[in-house]
Amino acid sequence: MVADTAAPLLEWDALERAVRDCRDCRLCQTRTQTVFGRGNKQARWLLIGEAPGEQEDKQGLPFVGRAGQLLDNMLSATGLDRDQDVYIANVLKCRPPGNRNPSGDEIASCQNYLIQQIRHIQPTLILALGRFAAQTLLQTEKSIGQLRGKLHSYQDIPLIVSYHPAYLLRNQPDKHKAWQDLVFARNTFARLQDRS
Ligand code: URA
Repeated sequence: MVADTAAPLLEWDALERAVRDCRDCRLCQTRTQTVFGRGNKQARWLLIGEAPGEQEDKQGLPFVGRAGQLLDNMLSATGLDRDQDVYIANVLKCRPPGNRNPSGDEIASCQNYLIQQIRHIQPTLILALGRFAAQTLLQTEKSIGQLRGKLHSYQDIPLIVSYHPAYLLRNQPDKHKAWQDLVFARNTFARLQDRS
């Protein structure tokens, strides 16, 4: 995802309205509503998932279904409050029908919204959850297995990759790896804070 940092930055409220009214791709025809994001826009952690699922599409908020409950538990085990310490957004702001994978053209249509969210929040650390977030932000085809455990960066913002919580619900044995990723992220964050 290549950010055009010279492009004008919309005010946060205007950005929210632009997402709400967006008709840039086919997903606008099947969504119930858009899902912009949730949390504290002054937060130092930015978590980025894939796309709204069924519950998110109904409620208009990210990560409110089963994957969201797991994410909440993992965040609180890390000592993070989901409403205070983090902002949570997705690569896509609309649900792909049947929760299918996002397509390349949908990601391309939607990416400017995420770029603008990141430019506003300017987080200390980005946690990319799952393949679509990681590959989109890092412009790579590499797998989560290849990307996790390393410190990457998106536009000079440190970025760590971990599994998507929905994947962890289906692959419980990998939960310990996700926990290692969160410990790595927490330690990295502490180091970055010390520096600032
Ligand atoms: N999965 C995501 O990637 N995002 C959500 O908001 C919900 C499920």
